[in-house]
Amino acid sequence: MRHIKIETHLFEFDNENELSEDAVHLFERAKEARLNAYAPYSNFAVGAAILLANGEVVTGSNQENASYPSGLCAERTAIYYAGAKYPNIKILKIAIVAGLLEGKTSKPIPPCGACRQAIAEYEVNQQSPIEIYFKGTSGKILKSNSLKNLLPLIFDKSQL
Ligand code: THU
Repeated sequence: MRHIKIETHLFEFDNENELSEDAVHLFERAKEARLNAYAPYSNFAVGAAILLANGEVVTGSNQENASYPSGLCAERTAIYYAGAKYPNIKILKIAIVAGLLEGKTSKPIPPCGACRQAIAEYEVNQQSPIEIYFKGTSGKILKSNSLKNLLPLIFDKSQL
């Protein structure tokens, strides 16, 4: 038996003043998108904004459904829209802001496993890393320089 150690790297920012200008702008768009979340069942609203290599920003928010599993997370709403509208344009960055509709969420909220898998598909296909920033409705921000840091044992088409 061998022990395999896998290292991952994240960067933490105390607040948005520490971020680059385009990341701040992307968070503004993610916050705007979050206002359109349809989350009457969880009362947890998420907004995501994606910066594409052509300068376009596409956004999404979580959209829930009375048939709970039919709802979709903000990240996948946004990334599938990017894929549908701009199929050949690289994704550079994603900013995600998430939290309770009422009250503060002061810890960074990472994308769920299914959203990581969806982001992986695009990162693998475009052969360049996607920066992922995430935060609550207040407090610190975490950044991953690539999806691979959030999903180290990636499953992708090369395994099929
Ligand atoms: N949600 C997202 O939009 N993104 C995530 O990565 C985590 C969860 C949504 C799904 C559901 O509408 C609500 O947050 C509570 O799980």
